[in-house]
Order: sequence, then structure tokens, then C-alpha cells
Amino acid sequence: MNKPASLPLDKGSPSEPLLVVKGLDVFYGRAHAVQSISFGLSEGVLGIVGRNGMGKTSLCNAITGLVPARGSIRFAGQEILGLSPDKITRRGIAYVPQGRRMWPSLTVDETLCLVGRTRHEVQEMYELFPRLAERKGNGSTQLSGGEQQMLAIARALLLRPRLLVMDEPTEGLAPVIVDHVVEIMHSLAADKGLAILLIEQNLGVALGVSDDIGVMVNGQIAHQMPASVLAADRDLQERLLGLRSADSDSDGGVNAQPTHTGGEESRDSAGARSAG
Ligand SMILES: Nc1ncnc2c1ncn2[C@@H]1O[C@H](COP(=O)(O)OP(=O)(O)OP(=O)(O)O)[C@@H](O)[C@H]1O
Ligand SMILES: [Mg+2]
Repeated sequence: MNKPASLPLDKGSPSEPLLVVKGLDVFYGRAHAVQSISFGLSEGVLGIVGRNGMGKTSLCNAITGLVPARGSIRFAGQEILGLSPDKITRRGIAYVPQGRRMWPSLTVDETLCLVGRTRHEVQEMYELFPRLAERKGNGSTQLSGGEQQMLAIARALLLRPRLLVMDEPTEGLAPVIVDHVVEIMHSLAADKGLAILLIEQNLGVALGVSDDIGVMVNGQIAHQMPASVLAADRDLQERLLGLRSADSDSDGGVNAQPTHTGGEESRDSAGARSAG
């Protein structure tokens, strides 16, 4: 993808990005999980990478209205912070949550029919994901991880979003399925024109799909850059994410998972800090 995903916030810009997050804070009691985050996403894919507990899911949950937050979240020119999750969904933001969160008592078909407005819309999902058509009578918890991810994506697409928030969509999937999910994300952004906020711990996936990358550290987006810049610079990957160097890592930088040791940002894997 060549289109820019994110823009530096420009107060004077007449054309506001689709999503504008400004000074966003999330607290759990005294723990400060998201700390004054600001970014804009106009189109394409903005990847956010970061190790466990850095606040990635909290950021997604704040944007989708699932946790209380302070600051500002503007979507399509209007403030959405404080709206209920269903109102945010109706504005055009759909969520593919971490861990998929299937509806355990429903089959694939029942899940899709519950969200889709017409049978035709559900049929479109079966065309997009033929594997789901083969499994339509199965309970969603009987599906493989990859099938569950496809169902989670289909369920989100039936909401006809302009922005898809995806929290670690390749987590726990076999490499061949990861490739398939990557293809789907490419196609959603490039062919269907969806903006995607992609949270990933698999740096290879994030770099392969995203236009821009933000590195989340201790509740903040500590660095933001074009994905191509991070992909080309192994030293930067190592410094920002604690990846092992090329000499000691035969897996190759972009295919390696961020590790939990090393790197300049490794001081606190617990993520949220006390607000003091
Ligand atoms: N409901 C909650 N109550 C209290 N603390 C929470 C809650 N949810 C998250 N936290 C804490 O907030 C911090 C950020 O958590 P969050 O789940 O947003 O991180 P993450 O980057 O998504 O982690 P992971 O990579 O493991 O999914 C962590 O320290 C976590 O323990
Ligand atoms: Mg998370």
C-alpha cells in the first residue's frame, strides 16, 4: 500500500483525518494504562506494535467505547468519546477484538445472521470467506483459530464500517493462516477502501500490512514512522522493540516476535503505571 495511513496532527488542516485521537488517557483505578496518546488515521493501515501490557487493547477499547477514557476521539469530524459502543459502531467503527470473542452458543450462520441485515449480506461474507460457508452449521467454538478469526472479521464487516479496529488478529495462528489473514487485511484496505487500525505483536505482519507504524511503550506511542523505515532498519527494530540483532537471530528481524528482554524500552513489562 502506498497511501499514507496516518498524519501528524495539524491543527490548521482543513481536511481532518477520519480518526483523530488527542490527549487520550485511560485509567484503571490509579493505574494509567493509556497516557495522553495522540494520532490521526486518514486512510490505509496504521499499525501499532508493542510488547505485552503496553496499553494496546486499552487504546482499542477506548476508541470503541468499551472503557471510559479522557481526552478526545473524533471520527468523521465528530466527537465520539463518551458515546456507547453501539452508537460508535453505528458511526462506522467495527472491532475485531483480541482473542476473537466468539458467541459460544451460536453457529457460524447464526452469528452472521444476527449481525447482517439481509441474507444477501451474509452470503457476501460466505463468498469472501468460503471456509465459513463450509462450516456454517458448526458452533463457533468448534472452529479452528483461523476460522474463528475469519468469523470475527466477517462479523465486523457486516456492520459496514469505515474503520476497522483489529487487536492482534494473527495471535496464536499457524503461519499459513497468518498469511491468509494478511491477504484479507491487504484486500480490505486496498480494494474495499477500509481504514484499519491494526494492533500486532508480530512485527513481520505489522510491517507487511501497515503504511505507518506506531510503537507503543508504557501507555504512550513513543515512536511513529513509515513502516518501510522500520522494516529497513534492523538496529531500529532492536532498539525500539528489543528484537535480537541479525547476528544472533536467524529468524530475521521482521519475522521475529518482539521479545521481552533488551531494547531501550524494556524497563517495565507490566505496562500501566500508577498515577501516583
Ligand atoms: N480491566 C483492567 N483493570 C485493571 N488493569 C487493567 C485492565 N485491563 C488492562 N489493565 C492493565 O493495563 C495495562 C495495559 O493493558 P492492555 O491489555 O491494554 O495491554 P496490551 O498492550 O493490550 O497487552 P497484551 O499485549 O498482553 O494484549 C496492563 O498493565 C494491564 O494489566
Ligand atoms: Mg492486548
